[in-house]
Amino acid sequence: MVASFAHTVRGGSLAGELAAREPALTARLQQGLDASEERLRGFAAEAPDPYVARIVGHLIGTGGKRLRPLLTLVGAEFGERDPRTAVDAAALAELVHVASLYHDDVMDQARTRRGAPSANALWGNSVAVLAGNWLLAKAARLAAELGPEILRLQAKVTNRLVTGQIRELTGVSAGEDALSHYFAVVAGKSAALIAMALQSGAIRTGARDDTVQALAEYGEHLGTAFQIADDILDITAASEVSGKEQGKDLAVGVASLPVLLALADEGPGAEELRELLTAAGRAREGAAAVPRAVALLRDGGAPAEAEAMMRARLLRARAALGGLPKGPATRVLYALCDIVADRDH
Ligand code: FPP
Ligand code: MG
Repeated sequence: MVASFAHTVRGGSLAGELAAREPALTARLQQGLDASEERLRGFAAEAPDPYVARIVGHLIGTGGKRLRPLLTLVGAEFGERDPRTAVDAAALAELVHVASLYHDDVMDQARTRRGAPSANALWGNSVAVLAGNWLLAKAARLAAELGPEILRLQAKVTNRLVTGQIRELTGVSAGEDALSHYFAVVAGKSAALIAMALQSGAIRTGARDDTVQALAEYGEHLGTAFQIADDILDITAASEVSGKEQGKDLAVGVASLPVLLALADEGPGAEELRELLTAAGRAREGAAAVPRAVALLRDGGAPAEAEAMMRARLLRARAALGGLPKGPATRVLYALCDIVADRDH
């Protein structure tokens, strides 16, 4: 969200209003983002072979919202030390995220990411997975430089990311509720890293334990809301806006929240959707299956129902901020809840 955050800061929207009230903080966050960007690009350039450097630098170079580094830098505002000590932790959060995207695009057979061809589309699945591993190894080295607490956190979060993805693939266990399964998957694959971003920034500047804890709780809820928004956008956003293919979750059989809600529904739309998502339904409809399923989902009540769940999570994120000092950094965290609620890409 940083690209859009920085953009809106300059563009005079909600974040712009915030910038008008908090010019010093906004300027400091932007400086931190620029410094972490330089670090990120530097890591890819460290690959000894220029061709490898190009591959591992591909998704860093395509930009992205940079939500995680932004959160690390905001988290760093809650400690006593200079927030610039968190620049490497900001780069770390984005490195882990980018590494996971190389893998995710292989798993989802995605052809585009961040408005550019995915690494797997350009170089094939094996190279993309290895590039993700290369970046994850870089991340581990950087975390080790940042101390045992951050290294432990990074290792734990990587485990949660991978577990979330495995659980997404293996699906609902016998007797497990589909929504509980969904939220467990999302907590691992999205929320964990968003919470880590905030925590690691706060740890770097020596914030109090209860503050680090509150930021982690906020991050878990914000991250869940962010992923629900992503799920909704998969069916409502045009590819040119999201930088990804529309209906990709559906196409690869990922049970996103709107799909789960629509399947639990009753009525002719739900019936047709259920049929369409069977192997026979897909085979019959061929290339028309995904656009038809997207249309059915859009026309039903599932996107609105998913949005209500997203807003409920944002309320919990806001509640987690209750005990934090009422300064500019806390206000930025409230504003980020509004930005996630209004996400359009
Ligand atoms: C995007 O979800 C995926 C993630 C946020 C996490 C992916 C995690 C892994 C592949 C585990 C491996 C992790 C590491 C660190 C190597 P999505 O497919 O719902 O969203 P999208 O629309 O952005 O693709
Ligand atoms: Mg994906």
